[in-house]
Amino acid sequence: MRLDVFTLFPEAFAWFAQQVHVARARTLGVELNLWDYRATTPLRHGQVDDTPYGGGAGMVLRIDVVCAALEAVFGGDAAAVARGRRVVELTPRGRQLDDALATELAAGDLCVLCGRYEGIDERVAHLVSDRVSIGPYVLSGGELAAQVLLDAVVRKIDGAVSNPESVAADSFSPGLGGFREHPHYTRPAEFRGWAVPPVLLSGDHAAIARWRRERLGGGEGPQAEQES
Ligand code: 6GU
Repeated sequence: MRLDVFTLFPEAFAWFAQQVHVARARTLGVELNLWDYRATTPLRHGQVDDTPYGGGAGMVLRIDVVCAALEAVFGGDAAAVARGRRVVELTPRGRQLDDALATELAAGDLCVLCGRYEGIDERVAHLVSDRVSIGPYVLSGGELAAQVLLDAVVRKIDGAVSNPESVAADSFSPGLGGFREHPHYTRPAEFRGWAVPPVLLSGDHAAIARWRRERLGGGEGPQAEQES
């Protein structure tokens, strides 16, 4: 599997690339490539963006710059790249990321396009398979959003997270019926008068499982189905 990220700020991904689960995914054969639009821009002086047609604030990443970057990396016609993999534009106008989309995107090669400023020229629609937002608020660029997306995707790759049970039981996953995970406690058993729920110290695994099931968060809850 390969993950290709196009950005004006590849250095923004340094911390992400060093995370344990990302490093483990790489040892499992997942390739993480960071590409700088500036390195392949066909424009002079490293130009990558321009003022919006129709006027208005901000700058827009140019479509010829995005095409040149895709073609430098994948060869051929930029519009054909999305035939071999999911190509995702990060944009607040996109479909909101959720667990199901992260699972879908983890199924094969993935290419992620980050915009900056006012985003990418709308004709990027000809190059992408998906337009994804990480939530209803505006970030200054796609880099943080891309790392949120990639983190969620990498967790879905078999073996990337050392304990597969922890991924199967992640909040929002099908394993949890889409619900939020139960709360967690660790030592000390009591701190400033705040006690850990005694059942967790009881050693009664059935009672602990019941207690945790009852505390899955959000929605109807699987326990509601079991009770009816
Ligand atoms: Cl993907 N990009 C930007 N710039 N802002 C966002 C976003 C993406 N998702 C939510 N806000």
